[in-house]
Amino acid sequence: MLLTFFSRAGENYGVDDTEVGNTEVIAGYIKDYFGDKIDVFKLEPVNPYPDAYQECTEIAKREKTENARPAFQGEVDLSAHDTIFLGYPIWCGEPPMIINTFLDKYDFAGKTIIPFNTHAGSGAAGSYEAIKEKLSDANVNTNGLAIMGTDVRTQSAKGTVEAWLKELGF
Ligand SMILES: Cc1cc2nc3c(=O)[nH]c(=O)nc-3n(C[C@H](O)[C@H](O)[C@H](O)COP(=O)(O)O)c2cc1C
Repeated sequence: MLLTFFSRAGENYGVDDTEVGNTEVIAGYIKDYFGDKIDVFKLEPVNPYPDAYQECTEIAKREKTENARPAFQGEVDLSAHDTIFLGYPIWCGEPPMIINTFLDKYDFAGKTIIPFNTHAGSGAAGSYEAIKEKLSDANVNTNGLAIMGTDVRTQSAKGTVEAWLKELGF
C-alpha cells in the first residue's frame, strides 16, 4: 500500500501559519492506522509554493489556466503497490495541478486508488469522479473522505478517518 499526498504548510484559509499542512495531518492519521503496512510518498514541488495565501492563490489560478504540470521531487516505484491512497487539498475548485502531474506520470492500470482531501467548503468538488474518469483503467474508489481544513486538528478528525478506513474494509 502507498500513501501519496500533496499538502502545503503556511498561511491558509481559516488556519494560521501551519508547520504541517491540513492534508498532511490527515495523511498522518492514515499512516498511524496502517503503520509499516503503508509506504509514504509526499509530493514535494520542485518550485515550492509561497507561504502567503494570496500569493499562492495567484500561482494556483495561473497553473490551472495553463493546465500546467508542476514537477515534484523524486520518483516512486508503483510496482509494489496495488492500493494507493491519494490526498490533496482543493485549490480553485479542483485538486492542485501537481496531482495531475502524478496521475499523468505513472501507469495506474489495475491499481486501486482511494482519494481523500481537505477543503474550506467545497467538499470533494467532484474530484473523485474526475479522477475516476481520468484513470479509466484503474479502480478508483469514489467513497473518498473530504474533511474541512479547519477540522483536521480536532479530536474527532482522527476518529473520522479511522471509521472511514474501517468502512472501506481495512
Ligand atoms: C491556492 C488555494 C486555493 C484554494 N481553493 C479552494 C477552493 O476552491 N475550495 C475550497 O473549499 N478550499 C480552497 N482552498 C482551501 C484549502 O483547500 C484548504 O485550506 C485545505 O485544507 C488546504 O490543505 P493543505 O494545508 O494540505 O494544503 C484553497 C487554498 C489555497 C491555498
